[in-house]
Amino acid sequence: MDSAGLRELLTFYADAGVDEPLLEEAADRFEETRTEAEKRAAQRQPAQQKAVAAPQARPAAPAAARAAVPDDAQAARAREIAKSAESLDALREQLSAFDGCNLKTTAKNTVFADGNPQAGVMFVGEAPGRDEDIQGLPFVGRSGKLLDRMLAAIGLDRTSVYISNVIPWRPPGNRDPSPLETEICRPFIERHIELVSPKILVTLGNPSTKLLLNTQTGIMRMRGNWAVHRTPSGLEIPTMPTLHPAYLLRNPAHKKLAWHDFLAIKLKLEEAI
Ligand code: URA
Repeated sequence: MDSAGLRELLTFYADAGVDEPLLEEAADRFEETRTEAEKRAAQRQPAQQKAVAAPQARPAAPAAARAAVPDDAQAARAREIAKSAESLDALREQLSAFDGCNLKTTAKNTVFADGNPQAGVMFVGEAPGRDEDIQGLPFVGRSGKLLDRMLAAIGLDRTSVYISNVIPWRPPGNRDPSPLETEICRPFIERHIELVSPKILVTLGNPSTKLLLNTQTGIMRMRGNWAVHRTPSGLEIPTMPTLHPAYLLRNPAHKKLAWHDFLAIKLKLEEAI
């Protein structure tokens, strides 16, 4: 294949989200992270201590090693930290400093939010993709461009809406976040919504709908019907579940369903203001 053909093929892969080169043999990243963490911990030990340390003694696992395999303790820690944030700036800082989710170790950026926190409506998607990870902003890739067009169709843009995701770190290779990773991130998005206190919440796609509306019912049955998101402190926010723009890119025939949902959002916003 010539270089133009190769470039075209690589562009095709990148557009399809294939941007992680794989090895012939599976690599144990957990083991690598643990070994790295042990090395760093050993370097931090004062020389004197090193001299007396038993050769096979393993140093206490530092935060990065604990985060490699998510555990329930990290979810509890996330709940405590998120609860203590008194402002959006504080929450952003705490999220950026949080080391309890392994997704952070492979992400380039913590994707917090975009848009206007004073807006009447907040949109919540699933997780950043490749473009969002690079730019550190939600919905800036292909599905973000479609979301912008859908917003424009009801007279909104990023100055009149606020946008975030359930997961603030891109899962490697765009894989689905695990249930425990989602549980670790949940307190942050819940507190995020509580601090913004939008008049209306819009969940984009299945994962954010299931999480924020506490339901197992699929998006096709949920979409188009107003529901209620209850914040941890008991605030009730009218919520419209709708189809994710990435799904609409794959299934353009369903755009008419999303249009129906967006008209309902527009109407509710007019009533609320
Ligand atoms: N999909 C999402 O759910 N969120 C983003 O930010 C981008 C794509």
